[in-house]
Amino acid sequence: MELMESLLFFLIMISIFQQSSSSTNPGDVSALKSLSEKWKNAPPSWGKSGDPCGESGERWEGVLNCSNSRVTELKLFNMGLEGTLSSEIGSLTGLQSLDLSYNKDLEGELPSSIGMLKQLHTLRLIACKFSGIIPNELGNLQNLKILALNSNQFSGKIPASLGRLSHLQYLDLADNQLNGTLPTSATEGSGLDRLWAAQHFHFNKNQISGPIPSDLFNSSMTVMHILLDNNKLTGEIPDTIGLVNSLRILRLDNNSLNGSVPSSINSLTNLSVLNLANNNLNGAMPNLTGMDFLNYLDLSNNSFDPSEAPNWLSGLNNLTTLIIESGGLQGQVPQEIFSFPQLQEVRLNNNSFSGTLNMSTKITQALKIVNLRNNSITSVTLSSSYNDTLILIENPVCGNVQLRHTGYCQDQQPDSQFNSWNNVTCSQPYEGQIVSRAPYFGYIQNHLNNLEERIQEKLSRTGVNFLVQDVFFDKNSYLNIWLKFCNSSGKSFTRNDILNSLDLNTQDLQLPENIGPSVFYPSHYAFQKRVIRGLTIGIAVGCAIGVLIIAGLAIYAVRQRKQALTAIYLRNPFASWGSFGEDAGDAPQLKGARCFSLDELKRCTDDFSKANEIGSGGYGKVYKGVLLNDQIVAIKRSQKGSTQGGLEFKTEIELLSRVHHRNLVELVGFCYEKGELLLVYEYIPNGTLKKNLSGSSEIQLDWKRRLMIALDSARGLAYLHDHANPPIIHRDVKSTNILLDDNLIAKVADFGLSTFVLNSEEGLISIHIKGTPGYVDPEYFMTHQLTAKSDVYSFGVVMLELITARSPIEKEKYIVKEVKMAINKNDKEFYGLKDLIDPTILKTGSLDGMHRFIELTLKCLAESPEDRPMMNELVKEFEILLTKHEIRRKSTSESSFGIEFQTERGVAEHPYDEIVLSSEVSTDAGYYSGQHLLPK
Ligand SMILES: *[C@@H]1O[C@H](CO)[C@@H](O)[C@H](O)[C@H]1NC(C)=O
Ligand SMILES: *[C@@H]1O[C@H](CO)[C@@H](O)[C@H](O)[C@H]1NC(C)=O
Ligand SMILES: *[C@@H]1O[C@H](CO)[C@@H](O)[C@H](O)[C@H]1NC(C)=O
Ligand SMILES: *[C@@H]1O[C@H](CO)[C@@H](O)[C@H](O)[C@H]1NC(C)=O
Ligand SMILES: *[C@@H]1O[C@H](CO)[C@@H](O)[C@H](O)[C@H]1NC(C)=O
Ligand SMILES: *[C@@H]1O[C@H](CO)[C@@H](O)[C@H](O)[C@H]1NC(C)=O
Repeated sequence: MELMESLLFFLIMISIFQQSSSSTNPGDVSALKSLSEKWKNAPPSWGKSGDPCGESGERWEGVLNCSNSRVTELKLFNMGLEGTLSSEIGSLTGLQSLDLSYNKDLEGELPSSIGMLKQLHTLRLIACKFSGIIPNELGNLQNLKILALNSNQFSGKIPASLGRLSHLQYLDLADNQLNGTLPTSATEGSGLDRLWAAQHFHFNKNQISGPIPSDLFNSSMTVMHILLDNNKLTGEIPDTIGLVNSLRILRLDNNSLNGSVPSSINSLTNLSVLNLANNNLNGAMPNLTGMDFLNYLDLSNNSFDPSEAPNWLSGLNNLTTLIIESGGLQGQVPQEIFSFPQLQEVRLNNNSFSGTLNMSTKITQALKIVNLRNNSITSVTLSSSYNDTLILIENPVCGNVQLRHTGYCQDQQPDSQFNSWNNVTCSQPYEGQIVSRAPYFGYIQNHLNNLEERIQEKLSRTGVNFLVQDVFFDKNSYLNIWLKFCNSSGKSFTRNDILNSLDLNTQDLQLPENIGPSVFYPSHYAFQKRVIRGLTIGIAVGCAIGVLIIAGLAIYAVRQRKQALTAIYLRNPFASWGSFGEDAGDAPQLKGARCFSLDELKRCTDDFSKANEIGSGGYGKVYKGVLLNDQIVAIKRSQKGSTQGGLEFKTEIELLSRVHHRNLVELVGFCYEKGELLLVYEYIPNGTLKKNLSGSSEIQLDWKRRLMIALDSARGLAYLHDHANPPIIHRDVKSTNILLDDNLIAKVADFGLSTFVLNSEEGLISIHIKGTPGYVDPEYFMTHQLTAKSDVYSFGVVMLELITARSPIEKEKYIVKEVKMAINKNDKEFYGLKDLIDPTILKTGSLDGMHRFIELTLKCLAESPEDRPMMNELVKEFEILLTKHEIRRKSTSESSFGIEFQTERGVAEHPYDEIVLSSEVSTDAGYYSGQHLLPK
């Protein structure tokens, strides 16, 4: 009896426990639902009835923590959310942490109800598209420690109410369109001067105007980083700045400040980074005596009185970077500086230094660049141990006949700063960049190890590998560090992977101090569509019976051994389902694909009405339909009585249910009923590449977009060749089998003619020639020897279409032949194909990379399969082309400074194609992650 009682008690306890731990406060549930009603692309779990705070399987993605059935932590960063933030957010009053960053299409105003989240200690809305003013009500969030609204489109004035956030440690409003003056309490009752706990004031890249208020600074502050660069500040630097002894970084560059620098500035004895460049500061060059911690100093491009190099320079022996360009400096270059142990970079160009440059003794090992361009130096004594960059061009000393032809008197390209020989690869990497807005150094080498260690540590035990792809300074002197992350399993990332493992917000990352104030900006990630499994019971039963029958057939088949198996296989393609490896015995256990009833498909296509017909594929017609869950699909229906259809149908389902990749059209499900074979695919709205190239759609594909399409479809095919198990040869690669989605991402379609590669060494002997005239590999045509290289050939024809927008066979002319005849290797721009290039792309935008692209196309079209590249090699090539295209674009469109390292390496001065095409140059340049892999 006692036993019974305790058992009962135990059971009751369990049920109570389950209830309290897994049922979310109904108010929170409905608030979350209201949020998602305003969003496109809310995570799939949000559409279901499950419990937001429930156990792991049921819990909604992004609800990272709950307490007492209230949602306390909501993170949906980089989920591709589109839409607005509902004012219902104000009902989630249990929230302590909210992060909706990197949803670049999350727009509209920030609702003032956000001021009701009194428990909030962290609010991150980085790099969305919020606009309008920053609501005053944020000042009510008394527990707020981290407020990051950077990289949005907020406008208007910084609200003075923020000054009430007495616990705020991190304030980042950078990279918006904020204007007006900096609010302080003297004029507005409350203001930034009261933020005594704040260590970070990041207001860079806005339109903030007016003078810097002198009461902004006081000795109660503990601020370490003040970033006010790239604004519209005027007036003098107030001498109260000297009160903020905690300062480590002060960037006031790229404003219109004037007057002389207050002498109090040298009270900032903890300062590591001081940048006052590009203002109208005048008077004497500031006296920086005693600022012994300075690592990075930039005083360039002001209007200081001409003077000799100041004495204090010789005392700053912790400098890594010294930049005083156009500083009116004259006399001797002080030789002491070259022995500062950490000094890496000296830029004193455009001054009036004269006499002898003495670099004869004790030059620090760290020194990499000395730029003295355009001075009046007449002679040089140089230690033979210094073999790094020294730029003396435009100095009288270069009149010296012996010197004139040395590197010192020529435009020099310093060694590449960054080399990555790492080779983390995967088909769907997560990528992003850390942007550091004031690193303590100006030369990259040797400074990244700590950073890599920190990230490694953060990712340990997550099974994520990463690689630093590229590092450079942009025109704002911000350090850009491009990262790439791969799942060690090779699988693509899920939402939960990203939210849990790849939250690389820089506050938690605790980067080494010398990296400076940084922000992580991940790139948009295309999640794989998860197939909704909510089946109506009828369908589920229908399929279950089907499974039983098939299983029965399979058992029967096994008993009857081979002949019988073949017979049943022909009658019922599902009989041998799962005969490949691990699936054995699992009848149509279609990973992700769903079994539909014919009725359901009839309903969603209006009984296969003519109006819904969107094309005819290899074996039948294709209809557009809308499923019960509102998903739009394309349904392929076989022609009745097509015997071939049955087999192909099975092949397709088997293949497609195994294959998931963002550049392959996804199988949503299938139907096999009443002799009907139907395949349900995701619907790809923008139609075929062919249609889009033919000019019959409104979309204009410029050259860069075409490169991206080439990359996307190559990725899809490379996945089929290298990652599908078993490998798959498409066999019908053509421009009508490449579809473009909403974002013009290319997806390869139609594996109806695909076939397994049984022996990847020797290829598969195929009996029937398949494929489409104009695209078929001549080698395959003659030998019936099918290899992945046959796809490469067909893809080469598609590449030609991207260049020319012509059909492979037009007016009885075969484009491949025409192109091969027109080729002129001496034409460094277009290979002699200028007349064949699609006039549309000649008109719009740059043709960067065209020459290399043509070269690759010709390799793909090589007669002999061995001479053709592998698909994955093409992927790498296209990635390189696009990276360069991108960087080139940056450096030409942002003309005022260009990207420093590029100009120094001469990328900007040389014709672009030379860089692209010469593998030697590009390998030397090193900062591109890839290498040219193709045999020359
Ligand atoms: C969830 O929140 C509670 C208190 O709010 C906290 O103690 C706990 O560490 C959090 N759990 C996680 C996994 O963040
Ligand atoms: C700030 O911008 C708003 C609109 O964005 C404009 O109405 C206002 O006049 C601007 N204020 C200043 C001081 O420039
Ligand atoms: C710079 O300041 C130091 C100490 O503050 C002082 O000793 C020195 O004379 C000053 N130098 C100049 C040129 O004013
Ligand atoms: C200079 O840097 C070294 C480390 O490289 C440090 O130990 C030293 O304290 C620094 N000196 C000053 C005056 O900042
Ligand atoms: C430069 O000199 C250092 C030692 O003085 C040597 O280790 C290094 O290899 C040299 N570099 C080049 C490019 O000659
Ligand atoms: C990748 O890099 C490692 C060393 O980092 C090397 O051992 C391996 O061979 C490389 N793999 C390829 C495919 O280049």
